Amino acid sequence: MSNKITVALIGAGFIGALHARNLARHPTIALKYVVEPSDTLGHKVSAETGAIWITDIEAALNDPEVQAVWIASPASTHTDLIGRSARAQKAVFCEKPVGMNVADVDRLISELENYSAPILIGFNRRFDTSHARLKEIVDSGAIGEVELVAITSRDPNPPPPAYMKATPGGIFYDTMIHDFDIARWLLGSEVTEVYATASSHLDADLNPEAEYDAATATLKTDSGAVCQISASRRAVYGYDQRIEVFGSKGMVQSLNHGKTNIQIYGAETISSEPLKNFFTDRYADAYVNEIDRFVAAFLKETTDYPNVWDGREALNLSMEALKSAKSGVPVKI
Ligand SMILES: NC(=O)c1ccc[n+]([C@@H]2O[C@H](COP(=O)([O-])OP(=O)(O)OC[C@H]3O[C@@H](n4cnc5c(N)ncnc54)[C@H](O)[C@@H]3O)[C@@H](O)[C@H]2O)c1
Repeated sequence: MSNKITVALIGAGFIGALHARNLARHPTIALKYVVEPSDTLGHKVSAETGAIWITDIEAALNDPEVQAVWIASPASTHTDLIGRSARAQKAVFCEKPVGMNVADVDRLISELENYSAPILIGFNRRFDTSHARLKEIVDSGAIGEVELVAITSRDPNPPPPAYMKATPGGIFYDTMIHDFDIARWLLGSEVTEVYATASSHLDADLNPEAEYDAATATLKTDSGAVCQISASRRAVYGYDQRIEVFGSKGMVQSLNHGKTNIQIYGAETISSEPLKNFFTDRYADAYVNEIDRFVAAFLKETTDYPNVWDGREALNLSMEALKSAKSGVPVKI
């Protein structure tokens, strides 16, 4: 009998295909099914990984060999699919966000009260080696009591115009949701107030409805530390992902990752090579590390992972930040 964990992947789109490749290569995972409505994508991922392409989720949930479900379908399906997978007694990985509204997630949480297998929400940035090391340093007390956190989170390019139009306020609940999770995770404390601003700068061909494409959020927390997040849909110099934690004894930074560590020295300037372009490059290791953590959680070796409650809190902060940006006033959490 195999010692591998048998997995069914739901959704073989952009991030699902990436997960499929990582799952298929993982020594402790047997990727049995890819559940995907599109035959083009289903065939493609099945051919790449050897998994069986199916379109019926119930076939995977009813298969007693399947021990875990890996959800990478659109956000609108997440709360329902987590519930159905848990009712079928499967462990779950689910991409962010955990759902589209907090009330639905709260109903899911009550339903899951007696469910013991892990449900890991895909806040991949927690599993980045540099960010994880930064947290270890903060937790060790080396920089003393944390007073200020600054998170910079800027994408190299905006999503397609149709996506921008279809996701008003998406900069908060689509991208900054990762930063809200990082803030709670780093500080180990809850947010008590959020004050957000948002503006629109991109040309109409990129952002036809002038949706928010730049945003900030200031978070007050119950530890007394304040966190500031700066986000943009477009950074001409690449994927800008930095975290700085300032404390009573010093400061620690997780800096940007370049494509190489090369620096070029001239008579008047010193320059570096470009940054890693986007999340699939910058967080390539994190997507593998999160599978390792899922396996450890499945084997009951750890409970340290982003769970449904963390997903709920990050979702709630996204929604409240959007309200604050629209109203211009801070919102108590
Ligand atoms: N953590 C990250 O870094 C990260 C990065 C990208 C996307 N995401 C998240 O992953 C999710 C998917 O994003 P994406 O960019 O891959 O989207 P996508 O549209 O490229 O892929 C979604 C896939 O799911 C399929 N699908 C739709 N309904 C389905 C259903 N009921 N059952 C099975 N499959 C279904 C679609 O046909 C599509 O192929 C989103 O929630 C997104 O926010 C997370």
